[in-house]
Amino acid sequence: MSEPEIMNAENDLRIDGFSAVLDDYEREGRLRHLPPHRAGQGLIDLTGNDYLGLAARQEEFREEYARRFGEASMTSSASRLLATDQKIYADYEGLLEGLYGRPALLFNSGYHANMGITRALALPGTVFLSDKLIHASAIDGLRMKGTECDRWRHNDPGHLRKLLEKYAGKAERMVVIAESVYSMDGDLAPLEELAALREEFPNMLLYIDEAHGFGVFGKYGLGLAEERGLLGKIDILMATLGKAGASAGAFAVTSRRMKDYLVNAARPLIFSTALPPANVAWSHLMTEKITGMEKERRHLRELASRLRAGLRDAGGGSEISGSQIVPFITGDARKATRLAAKLEAEGILASAIRRPTVPPGGERLRLSLNALLSEIDIDNITEKLKE
Ligand SMILES: Cc1ncc(COP(=O)(O)O)c(C=O)c1O
Repeated sequence: MSEPEIMNAENDLRIDGFSAVLDDYEREGRLRHLPPHRAGQGLIDLTGNDYLGLAARQEEFREEYARRFGEASMTSSASRLLATDQKIYADYEGLLEGLYGRPALLFNSGYHANMGITRALALPGTVFLSDKLIHASAIDGLRMKGTECDRWRHNDPGHLRKLLEKYAGKAERMVVIAESVYSMDGDLAPLEELAALREEFPNMLLYIDEAHGFGVFGKYGLGLAEERGLLGKIDILMATLGKAGASAGAFAVTSRRMKDYLVNAARPLIFSTALPPANVAWSHLMTEKITGMEKERRHLRELASRLRAGLRDAGGGSEISGSQIVPFITGDARKATRLAAKLEAEGILASAIRRPTVPPGGERLRLSLNALLSEIDIDNITEKLKE
């Protein structure tokens, strides 16, 4: 057998332009790398989104999984619209429908869901009004050619109202997009005000991304909308399963008619192989566990308040958080990376977040807490950051 030819693209016209981009990133201190393997090294991990600690505890649930779902296939071999095996998907959507009181539709990821749903809603006559800090997955959907959109100042319903007034008479429908818990600052959306605006403007649809609220807020962990008693006021509620859900995938909860529409119009659902049934079965089990994890949710909340209180005087802006995500803003990419390296040397993993994930000046460490941490861990983290 002949040796495969090795492509050497270090100095090549084909790669030069891309190399120049990498050089720029390096100069600006925002070059990304895939990190080394660090799991199982006993580090305190504040980088992940395993908010309830379910992913870390998965060993405990393997037996039950094997007993109930052990036969589930490792592949769907087709898009959801063509797959012959529908039972596990339908069962899980049924579980979600029972919890949320409205139909649910599974997607392969939150990225797919946000991209696919925004594209599907972008009929002529639709105007999107998004909070300035919504996630890249929704922004990528809105960036497609021909989409009309405007942005309101982060968490400012007064500004949103002005935009609604501006577009109400012109647009056929106005889709307002916000996250319940913002992924970088951990601050909470003014859901009550958004719901009140929805009452006022009959052609406004409210679309809430609960990626960081699912599992963490609400008596049953259904999200911030559950906690605030607003589930019935949200037209499309999207939640991801790769965070507190300890799995992968996402779902949207909506009306029956909108679900039917998305099945016909959400391209990532139609044109991508569905998640493996084995994975959906795991999501089913994890969701059942989540509904009973009130104690963990309370503990997580206490840890977050403790960390925020501890960092109050340290000047990192941690007080803006209202959740398990606590920012420690350095305002400079290099400072954030240096601080992350220093913490790692002391056994604490925290992500340095830089442009374009956050706007210039918002560079920070993102401290993402989980229910397996103790008060002692929090005090240790606080002390290290204050140093
Ligand atoms: C707010 C928000 N929405 C959507 C996503 C995308 O979800 P997924 O990781 O399932 O693609 C993420 C995270 O990655 C997120 O933070």
